Amino acid sequence: MAEFVNPFSGVIPPRKLSQNELVRAIRLNIAAEHEAVHLYMSHADATDNPLAKKVLINIANEERQHAGEFARLLELLTGDEDEWLKKGAAEVDEMAEGLK
Ligand SMILES: [Fe+2]
Repeated sequence: MAEFVNPFSGVIPPRKLSQNELVRAIRLNIAAEHEAVHLYMSHADATDNPLAKKVLINIANEERQHAGEFARLLELLTGDEDEWLKKGAAEVDEMAEGLK
């Protein structure tokens, strides 16, 4: 999350990212979006203030949308991300089916 104590967090490297570095950066961005969802939803759960709760949930949902945008970008950059995600989903579906 916030890295204000790291003086190098906003430093741009002297060269552009390679393709692999860009893919890793997008994975980090996806993690950051999920971390933001976690933070905002936990704050929403922790308050009884209806306006704050509404705003926090709304922003959390926007972060979920951002995660989807990054996921789509990752698929376009890698060409096989969705295939791996589908394999994982199929494994869980299989396990869920086994519990019925
Ligand atoms: Fe975001």
